[in-house]
Amino acid sequence: MSGVKITETILRDAHQSLIATRMKTEEMLPILEKLDQVGYYSLEVWGGATFDSCLRFLKEDPWERLRVLRKNFKNTKLQMLLRGQNLLGYKHYSDDVVEEFVKKSIGNGIDIIRIFDALNDTRNLRTAVETTKKSGGHAQTAISYTVSPVHNIDYYVNLAIEMENMGADSICIKDMSGILLPYVAEKLIKQIKEEILIPVQVHSHFTSGIANQTYMKSIEAGADIIDTAISPFGMGTSQPATEPMVASLKNSPYDPGLDMDLLLEISEYFKDIKEKYINDGVLDPKVLEVNVKTLKYQVPGGMLSNLVSQLKAQGALDRFEDVLEEVPRVREDLGYPPLVTPMSQMVGTQSVFNVVLGERYKMIPKEVKNYVKGLYGKPTVPIKDHIKKIIIGNEKVFTGRPADLLEPELDALKENIKEYIEQDEDVLSYALFPQVALDYFKYREAKKYKIDTNLLNEEFKTYPI
Ligand code: CO
Repeated sequence: MSGVKITETILRDAHQSLIATRMKTEEMLPILEKLDQVGYYSLEVWGGATFDSCLRFLKEDPWERLRVLRKNFKNTKLQMLLRGQNLLGYKHYSDDVVEEFVKKSIGNGIDIIRIFDALNDTRNLRTAVETTKKSGGHAQTAISYTVSPVHNIDYYVNLAIEMENMGADSICIKDMSGILLPYVAEKLIKQIKEEILIPVQVHSHFTSGIANQTYMKSIEAGADIIDTAISPFGMGTSQPATEPMVASLKNSPYDPGLDMDLLLEISEYFKDIKEKYINDGVLDPKVLEVNVKTLKYQVPGGMLSNLVSQLKAQGALDRFEDVLEEVPRVREDLGYPPLVTPMSQMVGTQSVFNVVLGERYKMIPKEVKNYVKGLYGKPTVPIKDHIKKIIIGNEKVFTGRPADLLEPELDALKENIKEYIEQDEDVLSYALFPQVALDYFKYREAKKYKIDTNLLNEEFKTYPI
């Protein structure tokens, strides 16, 4: 037995979860050499919200960050998170954009791409998986883990088999809400390992306080890799902390064999960074607490705080419990989607509308209608006819792969921004976040000619950098 492997999330999920993805490349640079020497299986460094945050808030080129990281990591694999056909955005992109994005991600230094779909509709993973493999990368497909009457062990085992058959190099059980219970994980991983040959990685969040135990049972059941975050940015809504997990496995067959002295030095470094973000008010100590509501309602922590702010905006915070009880009903109506972006937003907003307006489905967001029309993929179970009727009337439901409806769009995108293009990758930044990328390109230009960027447009000043 060669021990369990560790993916360190400090440069992506850890700071995305605790400080809204605000860590700057310059804050990462001084510690990269040490991170590279620890013996991690991989470093998760890119994807998720890092791309958007770089362009929007930090005024950094995300592609340049990736190249800098690649240059500094000489021994360790670099990993990213990709939302299938949605890439890092919130809609479906045409296949030519997905292919180009994946190629450039690998071309600029990514080794492993973790690809997931909010609905676990594998048709939304296919283009990204195939392109990753063609470009020489490792395609890891992720199962979005959720709890519902239809999400049982058999469902997940079948999904894992389907993913292996479609060419995945490994699979990840992605528990974004931190609700995967230890003994469920044990059973789940044992059964998956009986059916597939490729490695299994477990990704959880400490949100509800159970993820350490879940990792231990997962490891004992045969999980090959787990995701942890160096302790100053571990726990809370982030991953279980790296050092205690490594220490717990010492002198066991699962010993990851990481350099503990180096881990402690890295920990010291990030303690100072954390201190700074606490003092700035960017790190809200609340996100470090155990959130028992997540255990009770099985909704992710981020969704809970979104619901609070939506209700506050409506002056209806006293309806919070009612909304939490409406969430499972809306979820059932919509065929039990996992509560991850963009489904968590849709279910949350619909639940708020249903409660605050005093009548269910009196108002329906456009996204919910499009979802029911089949434009995001296939619901876990078919949506009942009477619900369909309420939401989209007699409109037809599309049952094909959503991206098949999209024409190639790369050439038109290039044409739109030709005056700003400095590198091939710019068109991808623009495809994902058109307005934000344009603002960034203008900023980049202004900086080059040393124009005072405060004189540009109002929008820059409002960015909470
Ligand atoms: Co995560």
